[in-house]
Amino acid sequence: MGILRCMLGHPLTRGLSVDDPRTTLLRKAIIHEKRFLTAIYSEWYQRIVATLPNINNVLELGSGAGFLQKYLPQAITSEVFEASGVSVIADACNLPFAEKSLDAIVMTDVFHHIPDVGRFLQEAERCARVGGKIVMIEPWRTPWSEWVYTHLHSEPFIHQSDWKIPSSGPLSGANGALPWIVFHRDRTLFETRFPQWRIRTIELMMPFSYLLSGGVSMRSLMPGWMYGPVRSLEQMLNQQQWAMFALIELELVP
Ligand SMILES: C[S@@+](CC[C@H](N)C(=O)[O-])C[C@H]1O[C@@H](n2cnc3c(N)ncnc32)[C@H](O)[C@@H]1O
Repeated sequence: MGILRCMLGHPLTRGLSVDDPRTTLLRKAIIHEKRFLTAIYSEWYQRIVATLPNINNVLELGSGAGFLQKYLPQAITSEVFEASGVSVIADACNLPFAEKSLDAIVMTDVFHHIPDVGRFLQEAERCARVGGKIVMIEPWRTPWSEWVYTHLHSEPFIHQSDWKIPSSGPLSGANGALPWIVFHRDRTLFETRFPQWRIRTIELMMPFSYLLSGGVSMRSLMPGWMYGPVRSLEQMLNQQQWAMFALIELELVP
């Protein structure tokens, strides 16, 4: 599998560490060059924006190479390091925002990189208004995704783990199984620790499209015009068996 990853690896970021901010900069170009991947991000952003009751004070965590502002121009983009197009430096575990000042915190592929998600959920509770939301699209554990994330992806995917991950670096530190651990395996613990955060939606999605897009680190296996047909086909599958991602929506109740 290592050879396959090497052959399919995107040449733009070859040799660079994932934690090097230059990798994130180059990934912007990769996302825009690969129309199939651009379509995935566009769908993710539109799905996230559609869940927001109020779109005025929305913080995006770990914006990285993404382009949420195309769909939500007023979003406050953020990163843990200086990066182009990012408005604020913000660590999920120590948010630089006043109490009750945010309508929502959103993210794509970030929760599973946060070293201490319990601390993040506390911080989010402090900064969000009642009725505010956390909305994320994250890897999810299904029989299919576990095989893919374990064999074809470089990040750790450890479903027996606890809620903390070693903070080796903002991108290398990861456990792809973390969203499933917190919101599914440990749901009762989550509800006990964070009764103010209600899980409104966990919608499983996208069995194949991200894989076929090659993501941000591999070459694309599909042209952009195939996006619609691939999405239509994969939606017919049993997502409990095949999904690779979940849209997770939490709401802060009084
Ligand atoms: C896989 S990238 C996703 C980037 C972008 N959201 C996307 O979908 O392309 C994970 C992002 O999470 C960020 N991140 C890691 N630890 C973080 C933390 N403690 N607080 C906020 N962001 C963090 C990383 O810097 C990185 O940009």
